[in-house]
Amino acid sequence: MVVKGIFPTPISTIKWENNLSDDQIDYIMSVSSSTGSSHRISDDHNILDNEILKNLRDWIDKNLKQFYKLIFEKDNSLPYITQSWINFSDYGMFTHHHNHPNSIISGVFYIKANDIINFHRMQNGLKIASSESNEWNFNTYSFDAMTNNLLMFPSDLYHSVPKNDTNEIRVSIAFNSFATGTFGQNQYLTHLEI
Ligand SMILES: [Fe+2]
Repeated sequence: MVVKGIFPTPISTIKWENNLSDDQIDYIMSVSSSTGSSHRISDDHNILDNEILKNLRDWIDKNLKQFYKLIFEKDNSLPYITQSWINFSDYGMFTHHHNHPNSIISGVFYIKANDIINFHRMQNGLKIASSESNEWNFNTYSFDAMTNNLLMFPSDLYHSVPKNDTNEIRVSIAFNSFATGTFGQNQYLTHLEI
C-alpha cells in the first residue's frame, strides 16, 4: 500500500544572524503592557513601526516576502505587516490555544526564549485514542522557540505556548500580515485589486 501526504502546512524557521542592541532590548523591556487571558501584551500594537526596531523590521519584512513568494508563487502582490506586538510571559504565564483571524501569514520573533511553541491539528470531531503516535494521527507538533529565531506560519493554524515554569521572563514579538496587489482572475469572477 502506498500512502501519500498531501497539502502540507508550511512553517518557516530562520535565525537572525545579528543581535539586538542593549538600547533596543531596554526599549522592548520597558514598553507598557496589559495582561490578557494568559500573558501580558504590549499596549503598542504596531511595535515594529518604531524607528528603534528598524533593522529587525527590515529583516522580518524581507523574510515575510520570501515566505509569501515561496507559498503563493505570486509576482503581482506583496505581503505587509498589519499589526505587531510584544508578548511577555512571566512565571506561570502561557499562551492559550488560538489562531490569528484577518491575517494571511503570522510570525513570531523571539527576544528572550528557550522554550517551545505547539502547533495543533485542525480538529475534525474524531477523538480516536491511538496506541502509537505517527504523522497521520498526532494532534500537536512542537517547534523550538529560541532567542533570535523567527517562525512564520499560516495565520489560521492553531498554536499555543506552555506555561513558563522558570523565573526567566519569556519575550517575543508577534505580527500579522495581509497582502496588497492583484489577486484572482477576471474571467473566473475572482479578481480583486487591493
Ligand atoms: Fe499567536
